[in-house]
Amino acid sequence: MIRVENLHKHFGGFHAVDGASLEIATGSITGLVGPNGAGKTTLFNVIAGVLEPTSGQVRMDGDDITGLPPHVLFHKGLLRTFQIAHEFSSMTCRENLMMVPGGQSGETLWNAWFQRGRIAQEEETLLKKADEVLDFLTISHLKNERAGNLSGGQKKLLELGRTMMVDAKIVFLDEVGAGVNRTLLNTIGDAILRLNQERGYTFCMIEHDMDFIGRLCDPVIVMAEGKVLAQGTIDEIKANEAVIEAYLGTGLKNKEMV
Ligand SMILES: Nc1ncnc2c1ncn2[C@@H]1O[C@H](COP(=O)(O)OP(=O)(O)O)[C@@H](O)[C@H]1O
Ligand SMILES: [Mg+2]
Repeated sequence: MIRVENLHKHFGGFHAVDGASLEIATGSITGLVGPNGAGKTTLFNVIAGVLEPTSGQVRMDGDDITGLPPHVLFHKGLLRTFQIAHEFSSMTCRENLMMVPGGQSGETLWNAWFQRGRIAQEEETLLKKADEVLDFLTISHLKNERAGNLSGGQKKLLELGRTMMVDAKIVFLDEVGAGVNRTLLNTIGDAILRLNQERGYTFCMIEHDMDFIGRLCDPVIVMAEGKVLAQGTIDEIKANEAVIEAYLGTGLKNKEMV
């Protein structure tokens, strides 16, 4: 689905992404790991249109999508999750989800005056969809809770939920499990697996926890110093000499190799 070819992203003289090439297969849950500073987040930001690459190409289903802005990629079904912005924290979970799809009729003055019936109907549809999403994520009980009151893990679930309000094809998750307790991490993992299996979502996820990566991801891609170092199953990656070497000196144990 996604093909990245010889991608570079330089910040001044620093090569954060330094000639990375990789593929994300349709229907996969692809893991992206590597030591801190390897360029993983920068790579995500270039793919998702948040940053312009210095050089190289990103293709989606064969089309060149290099440098397209996030809202254009959004309409192509390529999404990356974002933290709930401060201004949305006083809105309820349900309202947060209802905000997601753009281009609602209610947004223009013309429509506000002349198409009241249609707006009411769209709101009804959105409300139903938001409740379905909350149900899927097993957080229906939080529908009227303000987003700002959620725990870290519940916020991550809501972020994932926002990708379900549109027809996402591929979702990029950057450290979705960071700071999340075991129980909620399992809930998030289950939601990702179900979205993959039942709704056909493709995922690419950066994650610290190797157990979590191992449970969800195949293949796993390892980045180091802006380049792709290795790719394989979690077991292949853990046994790979070059990968082990890249992690040496970081003082981290195997379980949390990132
Ligand atoms: N906007 C920026 N300006 C300058 N350097 C940056 C910027 N963003 C990231 N970097 C640097 O690029 C390197 C890769 O960062 P990042 O992609 O966040 O790595 P990772 O997500 O793998 O930990 C780091 O050394 C970081 O300091
Ligand atoms: Mg990062």
